[in-house]
Amino acid sequence: MTKLSAESYRGSRDWYPEDLRIRKYIFQTWRQVVKKYGYEEYDAPLLEPIEVYEAKSGQELVGEQTYQFVDRGDRRVAIRPEMTPSVSRMIAARRQEIAYPARWFSIAQFMRYERPQRGREREFWQLNVDLFGVDNTQGEAELIAIGSQIMKAFGATDDMYVIRVNNRRLIDFMMAHFLGLDVQQAQQMIRLFDRKNKIPPEVFRDQAIEIFGADAASVGLQKIAQLLTAHTMADLPEEIRESEAVRDVQRLFTLLERSGVTNAIFDITLMRGLDYYTGTVFEFFDTHPDNNRALFGGGRYDGLVGVFGAEPVGAVGFAPGLSMMELFLEAHDLMPEFISSTDIYMIVLGNAMRGALEVADELRDENVNVEVDFTGRKLDKQIKSAVKKQIPYMMFVGEEELENEIYTLKNIITGDEQKLSLERVVTAVKDHRRQLSRSDDDDDVFDV
Ligand code: HAM
Repeated sequence: MTKLSAESYRGSRDWYPEDLRIRKYIFQTWRQVVKKYGYEEYDAPLLEPIEVYEAKSGQELVGEQTYQFVDRGDRRVAIRPEMTPSVSRMIAARRQEIAYPARWFSIAQFMRYERPQRGREREFWQLNVDLFGVDNTQGEAELIAIGSQIMKAFGATDDMYVIRVNNRRLIDFMMAHFLGLDVQQAQQMIRLFDRKNKIPPEVFRDQAIEIFGADAASVGLQKIAQLLTAHTMADLPEEIRESEAVRDVQRLFTLLERSGVTNAIFDITLMRGLDYYTGTVFEFFDTHPDNNRALFGGGRYDGLVGVFGAEPVGAVGFAPGLSMMELFLEAHDLMPEFISSTDIYMIVLGNAMRGALEVADELRDENVNVEVDFTGRKLDKQIKSAVKKQIPYMMFVGEEELENEIYTLKNIITGDEQKLSLERVVTAVKDHRRQLSRSDDDDDVFDV
């Protein structure tokens, strides 16, 4: 028989308990922050008809990155590569009944057929935070402020990341009126700008020449150079500076300043690859040299709900990714120490198994998580298992302990040992848990 590979499918990960702890910590932190702003959790199907993405997600995502197949009923379906079309469809389906502004979030799993590399996987997780029914810049300002609060909740300081902001209307204006490109050329140029940081400058230049065509190339390149040196709105060429879209961007920056966001910058080269954006686009970018990628991306997409046959609804949202968040925490040394969700590893001594199991059940009745070692192995072997599993407490139960109803509880990290009644064991464990801010009845904490 051929031996099967023990490796996971290319671009996907196995989540061993120690890895899942990190994922849960990130999800828990995301959830806590977005709930503070009144966002409610939803979910959507894993599969969607491919047309849902063909409508406005863009050629790269639909043509190259979706996992798609024909189901047994001859329907063309895709595993969701993102949430935005699904959530827009859900809003459209209940357009009249929903109370606006609708603040919704979801933490879900997606698949894209991408070349796996640092921070890019084929199976990945995102938090999606979306606000429906707000047409003014206050919406963008709230979402960017939430993004900043998320970073803060992980312990990040402003110098660790930068928020890049641009506007699709400004981009369209720039392509048509400043660079003089037609619709098709503009689309190609947007895609080229989108890849700018991923390709060498010569390649960028050559492809730009090709898009302009020989006659227009030299003037075109000069104009691009002028754009690339604009680091603030004041540096923009005058004709762009006076457009209505610039005023939108200015309004947003004023609101951001008011909400204490100081690390947002205007970046004329930020495009965002997805076609549905209609106004503000933004990305949270890690400033650590090892992580040259966006942590989050988002923007305003006012036309997407309308694609599903409903009256249009103003929409703005963003999505942080789990992989990038994890790399960020590692690179900036912000990853906390994790311990097991089990509180006590019970070590049974001598002939005490029956009584020990009863004690374990009593503890469980008090919401203490207990693992009982009933292997009968040598004591040092049992202790080794407890340490390896990173369970905070060991509890020793022998015949004498059962008789006196006093048990030895040992903290694995500090080495402290106490002789306690069962009641006191419960208190000690719960106090410890509280210190780690791991409440025992909050399902959310361990929800995936
Ligand atoms: P996106 O820029 O494609 O936007 O993805 C957002 C974030 O998801 C990225 O910044 C990255 O952290 C993570 N991500 C995306 N693809 C992968 C991958 N292959 N592996 C690991 N992480 C990945 C969107 O998806 C939009 N739908 C966001 C949005 C929500 N816009 C409005 N609302």
